[in-house]
Amino acid sequence: MKYRHILGIDFGGSGIKGAPVDTKKGYLTADRYRIPTPLPATPEGVSNVIYKIVKHFKWEGPVGLAFPAVVMNGIVKTASNIDKNWIGINASELIMNKTGLPTYVLNDADAAGMAAMKFGAGKGKKGSVLLITVGTGIGTVLFTKGKLVQNTELGHLFLKSGIEAEDYTSDAVRQNEGLDWEEWAKRFDIYLNEMEKLFWPELIIIGGGVSKKPKKFLNHLTVKTKIIMAKAKNEAGIIGAALATRENRNLFE
Ligand code: BGC
Repeated sequence: MKYRHILGIDFGGSGIKGAPVDTKKGYLTADRYRIPTPLPATPEGVSNVIYKIVKHFKWEGPVGLAFPAVVMNGIVKTASNIDKNWIGINASELIMNKTGLPTYVLNDADAAGMAAMKFGAGKGKKGSVLLITVGTGIGTVLFTKGKLVQNTELGHLFLKSGIEAEDYTSDAVRQNEGLDWEEWAKRFDIYLNEMEKLFWPELIIIGGGVSKKPKKFLNHLTVKTKIIMAKAKNEAGIIGAALATRENRNLFE
């Protein structure tokens, strides 16, 4: 099957990481290769890095890219944590032209969610599952009966204090404001309570940087919804981007 092995790439706030993925089994078939995200993260800078990752693996097959913004049919619509020049750019076309390889681009949280529902913590869940990735930004993805609602941007929800959740309780905010884990967890708990009240998920999955350290914050949370950490941790974006590319292979065939 031509689309079984796909190069998954995750464009994050601090690093752009890639690895070939076996999309049938959901694992990386080689070690991840990471290059620091160029600052500012312009279309040119980022596409050059992606080209280097493709060359590193001597890759000649399809590529899937998890992108940290709203992406509709390949076109970037927002740019909270990346260079504003991305807005309006067809990222799929840009990477295809640069690499000569079929490329599918989707939101990074949507990608992580696809990996979690297929191979990870959300597998088999039929009710609503909300996955929240907490890193440089806050990404969200909502599933119900296993179906994904694309491009939910619930990290930009305004909390009662009038501040956007992402500017209040991302992992970058924790680090930049020097919050200890308890202080950060109390903020995150306000956000989670809001999510619980609005969406009534059966399960909340936490991904991104903070999901590597659940012991630091889980016991400070008061939400009643079951919370688990994403299994794939920082590989979920890579695996999900590859999976999504396989699912959308009709675009290239
Ligand atoms: C963006 C989302 C993205 C999230 C995580 C947010 O700032 O608006 O699209 O999923 O960061 O990267």
